[in-house]
Amino acid sequence: MSKQPPIHPPPFSIFTLIPNSFPIYTPLQMATSAAIRVLTLLASTPSSFFTNFRSISHLGIISISVKNPSLSSSPRNRRMAHVVAKATLGLTHPAQIDHPKIYFAAKETDLVEWKGDILAVGVTEKDMTKDKNSKFQNPILEKLDSKLGGLLSEVSSEEDFTGKAGQSTVIRVAGVGPKRISLIGLGKGPTGAYTSGYRALGESVASTAKASQANNVAITLASLEGLTPESKLATASAIAKGTLLGSYEDNRFKSESKKLSLESVDFFGLGGGPELEKKLKYTEDICSGVILGKELVNAPANVLTPGVLAEEAENIAATYSDVFTAKILDTEQCKELKMGSYLGVAAASTNPPKFIHLCYKPPSGSVKTKLALVGKGLTFDSGGYNIKTGPGCSIELMKFDMGGSAAVLGAAKALGQIKPLGVEVHFIVAACENMISGTGMRPGDILTASNGKTIEVNNTDAEGRLTLADALVYACNQGVDKIVDLATLTGACVVALGPSIAGIFTPSDELSKEVVAAAEVAGEKLWRLPMEESYWDSMKSGVADMVNTGGRQGGSITAALFLKQFVDEKVQWLHIDMAGPVWNDKKKAATGFAIPTLVEWVVSNSAS
Ligand code: BES
Ligand code: MN
Ligand code: ZN
Repeated sequence: MSKQPPIHPPPFSIFTLIPNSFPIYTPLQMATSAAIRVLTLLASTPSSFFTNFRSISHLGIISISVKNPSLSSSPRNRRMAHVVAKATLGLTHPAQIDHPKIYFAAKETDLVEWKGDILAVGVTEKDMTKDKNSKFQNPILEKLDSKLGGLLSEVSSEEDFTGKAGQSTVIRVAGVGPKRISLIGLGKGPTGAYTSGYRALGESVASTAKASQANNVAITLASLEGLTPESKLATASAIAKGTLLGSYEDNRFKSESKKLSLESVDFFGLGGGPELEKKLKYTEDICSGVILGKELVNAPANVLTPGVLAEEAENIAATYSDVFTAKILDTEQCKELKMGSYLGVAAASTNPPKFIHLCYKPPSGSVKTKLALVGKGLTFDSGGYNIKTGPGCSIELMKFDMGGSAAVLGAAKALGQIKPLGVEVHFIVAACENMISGTGMRPGDILTASNGKTIEVNNTDAEGRLTLADALVYACNQGVDKIVDLATLTGACVVALGPSIAGIFTPSDELSKEVVAAAEVAGEKLWRLPMEESYWDSMKSGVADMVNTGGRQGGSITAALFLKQFVDEKVQWLHIDMAGPVWNDKKKAATGFAIPTLVEWVVSNSAS
């Protein structure tokens, strides 16, 4: 077994105490401050208040109405008690933006006769070979080229377009059906898991369509022979996924955004009929889940608080109310369940924690398998007292620390539309913020989790596992057969596997096979890492059952061993550390990682 690469040294921090200053207030500031004090008073008064959070626009404005029945008796008190706050910190409200709606159709007519904005042809390196008279040997390319008077072969030679993966070229043509022809390289062609190559083709089509404001596109492959009916469906699905997700731009926080131009895609030679229609509907459902996942991760922590995340979960349940029920637990209810580990992490934040539990039940028939998807939901991770400091600590990106929960809710949205039979699925998120304040947990504090185990917090920045501990105990109490948890858990996993591969950890070879197979169909990259029991030595505490962090070495493995302490041995369990793939550094945006894999995994456990 090769040694785990070292991770960066643990962060340290220097605190400066700023003495209280006495500013001079204007009358307006005094009025505002009085209003804030009323709100604080109301918020700190227990149980007699009904607190109602209502999302007005998608992920956006929340109205908080606080109502005290004892105060509402006199009109004066009623006015005071009913306070509606409509602003988020920084006055930022996400705009409503278009989600791509593309009409996909299968065409049987002659490709060369097609009329529209862009004709896109996926070509392998072999398809691009020419004979000694510079003629394409591939019949589709040859037919197109002769119609264009040899323009295709001329341009491809001039631009040295050889069909390598990632290469593409666009030619503006006149006097034929399409306005533009685009050749898109597929490299050596399909090899085993070919989903990602075809998804890239779709992404290339989307960006060409954006650049030329195209409304309609036709897509085909130069080599269609040898494709089985199933592989045609898988190919069309992968291309559609790339086109849909490539068209999407998250402009909710920009003051201006362009309208999406692409409206229709015609597939040539990739099958047709109800089978293709069903497959494309399934693909669209997954994409809508991926887009939700991206939006949740992209939303900053001042907008997406634990309360708003819970609202989003309730929205999903309300939208697909035939299959979902939602339960949101507040601090008091979590206390009753003895979730000391999770509540320890949440203790420093002014934004209260929300424990989210969605339950999916199939619309008909009996349930054969019960599953749980558990996601880390840190809407912000400052590190706590072990604050994230220094270059490379990425504190400014820690809004993405709820990527696991975004994957869980994205999958829920997709499954609410797909409605698989024979499976019950629990979606569980212990959402909170890891902040710093006098009420927060200190390094050295001992927390007691809901299974009774005690944890000495030797690093407040290893908070994800503390929240997951209680979430996993809760998941096991639902009587599930299998659990998959997802978390942006360790920087060590990014060091080990880089930015685009997630680490998986499980004692179960069987569950590992299932999830790896689902990821292959979905075109996502996972790599199994060992759960080396001997490394548990570094997690021993002198005063409690365990500490929450081991040494620097094998940091992702000790994190996984920690989680294992909270999983019932009778339950099959797999942990996904997605700290790398949650975010695309080049695009400066969320990826929606793991949603397609989770959907495929649930569907593979279903009866239909
Ligand atoms: N959310 C971080 C993990 C992380 C780090 C994700 C960088 C993506 C990029 C997690 O809560 C954390 O802080 N982990 C610590 C654990 C350490 C204190 C044992 C880490 O990885 O440094
Ligand atoms: Mn952390
Ligand atoms: Zn974290």
